[in-house]
Amino acid sequence: MNNFELYNPTRLVFGKGQIEKLPELVPNTKVLLVYGGGSIFKNGVHAAVTAALKDYEVVEFGGIEPNPHFETAMKAVEIIREQDIGFLLAVGGGSVIDAVKFMSAAVKFDGNPLDILQKRLLITDVSQTIPFGTVLTLPATGSAMNSGSVITIESTQEKLSFGGQALFPKFSICDPTVIQSLPARQIQNGIVDAYTHVLEQYLTYPHAGLLQDRIAEGILSTLIEVGPRVVADPSDYTLASNYMWSCTMALNGLIQKGVPTDWVTHMIGHELTALYNIDHARTLAIIGPNLYRVMFETKKEKLAQYGERIFGLKGSVEEVAKEAIEKTVEFFHTMGMDTRLSQYTQDYSKTAAFIKDRFENRGWRTMGERQNITPDKVFEIVESSY
Ligand code: NZQ
Ligand code: ZN
Repeated sequence: MNNFELYNPTRLVFGKGQIEKLPELVPNTKVLLVYGGGSIFKNGVHAAVTAALKDYEVVEFGGIEPNPHFETAMKAVEIIREQDIGFLLAVGGGSVIDAVKFMSAAVKFDGNPLDILQKRLLITDVSQTIPFGTVLTLPATGSAMNSGSVITIESTQEKLSFGGQALFPKFSICDPTVIQSLPARQIQNGIVDAYTHVLEQYLTYPHAGLLQDRIAEGILSTLIEVGPRVVADPSDYTLASNYMWSCTMALNGLIQKGVPTDWVTHMIGHELTALYNIDHARTLAIIGPNLYRVMFETKKEKLAQYGERIFGLKGSVEEVAKEAIEKTVEFFHTMGMDTRLSQYTQDYSKTAAFIKDRFENRGWRTMGERQNITPDKVFEIVESSY
């Protein structure tokens, strides 16, 4: 196993009715409550949060869009400075949480805040950030328990990730009952996003992280078990809680410790969202299987292990590995995903060349667990996804 450090200071407060604990968690200071397009007003989460914070001075900032924009987050940064806000509370899905992470990093940043994204600065000094907590309303990204964030720059149509150890939430309240108001499409997205997070950290090459593999497989199997059922009945607490916990565990840092990781499905997927506004998870369902096909020689041993252990497949390494990719696509279809780019846009013919150029211009020339995913491979992966 590779050497590793595990650092995750987020206090995860999980279960029914936990929003009531906010006064124990939020420091005594002026709070900016950040939210998205208004779902929290319809499902009672806003009412529960404001009731819990009745003794605090709370300023509200709404309108964070899915795939949150730099431009919108910067408006909140101004308010945080002007109003001397001491704590940020993200109430929403990954987009609201990611926007708050950006605000946290940008408020005291000395320089052009675009650099945080375009130069992918590592945010490591907590004293240079504004502390924040989250109330999660959409299990998917793991953002409630990790230190990463993905922000779209509207003016350049770029979707870029950044983060660092100073950007863990101080706490995250994960109440599985909040998923009852989610549209089926968002639950489907959440399952597929979390599933792909595991695959990015698992479908690499055989290594000595035996426990990490078993934990990863446990998350995959749980997502397969609960995914279709939680879409059908989000009011079932057993399903909802396992869905929420699986999404959290998929990207809280644990399963990537001491093992190689890939992440190129995400890198390409972010481009598809930036270009065509396709939901994040759906871009992963388009790209992932084709990345496994193009990088088959590199990944076939782990694909075979995955096929055997998750789907119970039997046969040679090649046979099981190939069949495992098909089973993955089947699962994505069960979860309501279309898996070809042309099912989302008719304007796809130049996409592979565009993304290849972008990666080259950013200096992203060797990617993936073996650093053998080149811009040419990226071209092949995207073209085979049309
Ligand atoms: O904006 P509101 O009105 O709240 O509605 C949202 C939004 O329209 C709605 N929603 C959320 N909770 C709800 C609800 N509707 C009804 N009931 C609820 N309880 O769902 C819509 C989508 O929300 P969004 O936050 O955009 O979804 P998600 O959590 O999937 O986040 C996606 C974003 O996270 C990034 C993605 O790239 C994308 O920008 N990611 C962040 C990661 C991270 N920070 O670690 C990792 C991921 O790989 C991902 O890249
Ligand atoms: Zn993701």
